Amino acid sequence: MEQIETKSVKYDLIVNSPGRINIIGEHTDYNNGFVLPTAIDKKIQFKFKKNASLNRCTVYSNDFNEGFTFNLDEVTKSKNQWENYILGVVFEILQLSNNLKGFDCVFKSDIPIGSGISSSAALECGLAFGLNGLFNLNLSKKTIVELSQRAEHNFVGTKCGIMDQFASVMSKEGSVILLDCESLDFEYVPIKIEPYKIVLLNTNVSHNLASGEYNIRRAQCEKGVAIIKQNYPKINSLRDVSLSMLNEFKSVLEPVIFNRCLYVIEEKERVLNSVEALKNNDLATLGNNMYKTHNGLQHQYEVSCTELDFLVDFSKKYEDVLGARMMGGGFGGCTINVVHSKEVTKFIEDSSIAYYKKFNIKLTAFEAMPSEGTSIKINNLKN
Ligand code: GLA
Repeated sequence: MEQIETKSVKYDLIVNSPGRINIIGEHTDYNNGFVLPTAIDKKIQFKFKKNASLNRCTVYSNDFNEGFTFNLDEVTKSKNQWENYILGVVFEILQLSNNLKGFDCVFKSDIPIGSGISSSAALECGLAFGLNGLFNLNLSKKTIVELSQRAEHNFVGTKCGIMDQFASVMSKEGSVILLDCESLDFEYVPIKIEPYKIVLLNTNVSHNLASGEYNIRRAQCEKGVAIIKQNYPKINSLRDVSLSMLNEFKSVLEPVIFNRCLYVIEEKERVLNSVEALKNNDLATLGNNMYKTHNGLQHQYEVSCTELDFLVDFSKKYEDVLGARMMGGGFGGCTINVVHSKEVTKFIEDSSIAYYKKFNIKLTAFEAMPSEGTSIKINNLKN
């Protein structure tokens, strides 16, 4: 397909949709626990226009140099996975509204794919947000978040939690979101950590296991819950299970299931403890919790990989690094590090050299700035 973006095309709407970081609270969202994410200054930019047809839509990715056309009366899964993010969102919108018509959309991203900073949610939410504006669909932000999550479940096949979509849409510059993934109640917590910075080190590996193993972890947690529920009928998720309840089942649960549940229950507490630490500017406690989280993800939840473990271990040599851990679903992507500003350059340089020596892979690093969620940048619509 020809690239449809030309200088002469006038777009109706331009939308920015960001990736996210998560300070702490990994693999807790689909267990109804707490998370502490925020959008960052890496984004997908979408340009939209109505094309006057009733049904025909074209979507073009400037990063893949590839696009596709589909009809609104025939939205089905594609063999090309990135198209499923788009088709999934359109499908879910069609379940909620009759007002969608033909549109053209091009997008361009500076979020590295497979790096654990959720280019997927940025893609889903940016599209949903843009179509909502383009056709006046009156979908609330919460609906956009939820339909984007459903798109990932139903069209992409990853049974993800709500964190990424929520962070992408709801974030506020300079804050992180303490989100209760059961009630969806949330609180903005200012993130004032000067003279420390949030540094992401991208392993630039993305092991193929990610989506399959992700769904397996979710099923393992559900299995644990089903067994514990036999004695505690009121529990619905690991959110409702305490450490002492879990320990009663130590001899009953398969060790692997026990370990998965143990990690989630401990992580749930770590998030709340870390929020207090952040509010009290106790960054040492926050950093220490991040190391504990990594340890749990590595040994109990088993979603890390040698590249991530290497970088987290390496960071421990630096007094000026308060904490580090793998971030996101796992099996590759980034580590998130809290680093004193005077040490950032050296830490990145040293880590890059050591990482290259060990794996023969180039590390990429950047500072993440907590930023606002999905937003309309330019609106040329007349209404
Ligand atoms: C992925 C999912 C999220 C969350 C994280 C792990 O990013 O999309 O819902 O489960 O993994 O915390």
